[in-house]
Amino acid sequence: MAAIIMAPRACLAGCVSLIISWAKHIQPVAPQSTPVETLRWRDGALEMIDQRALPLRLEYRRYDSAEGVAEAIRSMVVRGAPAIGCAAAYGVALAALALASRTRAGFLRGLEEALHLLAASRPTAVNLSWALERQRRLAAGLGTAEPRSVANALLAEAHAIREQDIAANRAMGAHGAALIPDGARILTHCNAGALATAGHGTALGVIRSATETGKQVSVLADETRPVLQGARLTCWELMQDRIPVTLIADGASSLLMSRGEVDLVIVGADRIAANGDTANKVGTYPLAALAQRHAIPFYVACPLSTIDMALDHGGLIPIEERAAEEVTGFGGARWAPQGVRVRNPAFDVTPAQLVTALITERGVVFRPDRQKLRALFGLDGHAQAK
Ligand code: MRU
Repeated sequence: MAAIIMAPRACLAGCVSLIISWAKHIQPVAPQSTPVETLRWRDGALEMIDQRALPLRLEYRRYDSAEGVAEAIRSMVVRGAPAIGCAAAYGVALAALALASRTRAGFLRGLEEALHLLAASRPTAVNLSWALERQRRLAAGLGTAEPRSVANALLAEAHAIREQDIAANRAMGAHGAALIPDGARILTHCNAGALATAGHGTALGVIRSATETGKQVSVLADETRPVLQGARLTCWELMQDRIPVTLIADGASSLLMSRGEVDLVIVGADRIAANGDTANKVGTYPLAALAQRHAIPFYVACPLSTIDMALDHGGLIPIEERAAEEVTGFGGARWAPQGVRVRNPAFDVTPAQLVTALITERGVVFRPDRQKLRALFGLDGHAQAK
């Protein structure tokens, strides 16, 4: 079940201007100066910003069941790989708390059902199954403990996953900031910011950290059709922090790169295979190819929880296909002819060869490949990547 909670300043008139039909009669929420809490635990429930409403309204929804959290992930109330993982971890805790008065057998059965339900909510971001597996292992490791104490431990673990995500983003920011020259003009795609994580962000976290060290940068944000995470979320987030941002149509990046108006590209990731192939929001691969064409560095910022060492290469990454309505229109408006055939793959896979470097909480991996990723995880007895 989800209830809506309006944020205190949600009705202020704003200065973000988006030319989309659903915005016609409503002003976007004004940029704020305090960091946004994408998801938080309050009074026994999970509260999450409804990202579908931004930038028009900043409102939290309240969730008290795994079913509600699974639906929030599926419908993109919460989105972005690390944020999805955190939400799923809380979903497991909510299920466990609701089942705590059952017998141990009933508790474990119900918990397994919740884990399956949450796992089915979105397929591409591996942070989802990573977080669920962490919760499953914790419950299994508690042996014959009472359901109530297992439930409490699962809630504590969800808090830890959230805190660790913020810490990882901060570490990534520190490593990545060194790669950002003062005055850099940075292109990004989708939203890999605080809203896509528990806080600070991955790609936008690196940009934020660079500005915290005193560097002046400006950002070009791809609008990111069809769900407009760039136009709606990245622009809003950066304007909140007063980081200069310019919104461009997805197709405009080639012209700007060819004219020398982009110094580097930085994006997030939803899943990275063992050989470094990188799944991210559809439209990322063409940016990487163009960046190579114009000798522009192409960086991917992601926590280790996004790297799936069990998948040999990017061709094995499950790519989510979403509803046709996301492509035929937006927010209830429709512009494509009735009956037109539609494909809507939500992600694409950038070959590792096009990635200049991966920025992780453990360090920067230049020209990522199978061997360097194994070293990053301390496998094969190699030293960890720097
Ligand atoms: O469909 P979304 O909005 O969940 O897709 C999100 C992305 O593709 C992000 O770039 C990715 O999750 C990295 S988030 C730090």
